[in-house]
Amino acid sequence: MVNLETKIGKIRLKNPVMAASGTFGPEYGELMDINKLGAYIAKTITLNARIGNPPPRVCETPSGMLNSIGLENGGLDDFIKNKIPALKGLKIPLIASIAGDDAIEFKALAKALSKVKKIAALEINLSCPNVKHGKRDFLIAQDEEATYEIIDAVRRSTALTVIAKLSPNVADIKRIAKAAEMAGADAVSLINTLVGMAVDIDTKRPVLGNVMGGLSGPAIKPVALRMVREAYNSTKIPVVGIGGIMDYKDAVEFMLCGASAIQVGTANFVNPAASIEIIDGIKSYMAASGIEEIKELIGALKT
Ligand SMILES: Cc1cc2nc3c(=O)[nH]c(=O)nc-3n(C[C@H](O)[C@H](O)[C@H](O)COP(=O)(O)O)c2cc1C
Repeated sequence: MVNLETKIGKIRLKNPVMAASGTFGPEYGELMDINKLGAYIAKTITLNARIGNPPPRVCETPSGMLNSIGLENGGLDDFIKNKIPALKGLKIPLIASIAGDDAIEFKALAKALSKVKKIAALEINLSCPNVKHGKRDFLIAQDEEATYEIIDAVRRSTALTVIAKLSPNVADIKRIAKAAEMAGADAVSLINTLVGMAVDIDTKRPVLGNVMGGLSGPAIKPVALRMVREAYNSTKIPVVGIGGIMDYKDAVEFMLCGASAIQVGTANFVNPAASIEIIDGIKSYMAASGIEEIKELIGALKT
């Protein structure tokens, strides 16, 4: 028997596999058993509703895709009134994902969501590349001080497990991960998408309505692995690995680099059952390798 149980802050996951925010909704329940996942991460919400960016919002690129959804969502009230009740059959931990313009908005979201019984943890999206954050012209996760300020504000507003979702669009991920840890994050998750663009030579226009978008999928995996490794080496909190995970081998690579858990994003669009197959694949890999506890894999990279 192999034991896949892992821990992120105060939450225990029966296995380390989650679907990444924004790439997976309750409708997947028609295609697979969502309760087999380690936890369910909701799409990022903001305090007020957002209409998102102009279309086209997605396009395929070699070994990946670009998206510029722009955090379209119905806001906090809609999430509590409509989205959470739609998850009533959920038996695994529910992780809400939040984004905002400033500490006041993040605080308000954290406080309100802490009162919702069903929510086990908050993923703090400091890293969506497709939105402007008020007066700021950089992502929160691109700046150590801003990362500290927002995580500190959330930490003071909630007793829930706090996961800081970081951006790859930085020079030194170690410093940002450290700032999140110092501010009280229970874990860091990385990476969000890499800023990119695509061009149509016939129209001579950018393919995406928003010009720039976020690159995801297999193309970003090597960058994600490197950053997960650096975050693991520079902090003492659990690291959640994200970026181009398509199968169990990719997932194991992230765990060897130090990920205590992983998230599957773009793969859900190619194969809705990808995350379930990844859980089964990790189990078989562990059994075949004589590994009983998933902990034995985490950070076990030989260098
Ligand atoms: C269409 C799409 C929508 C996304 N929406 C969100 C979101 O709402 N919140 C968030 O934190 N990340 C969002 N992401 C980023 C993913 O959660 C993930 O960090 C990223 O895609 C890298 O993982 P992948 O290569 O497995 O897709 C989105 C990604 C895609 C492709």
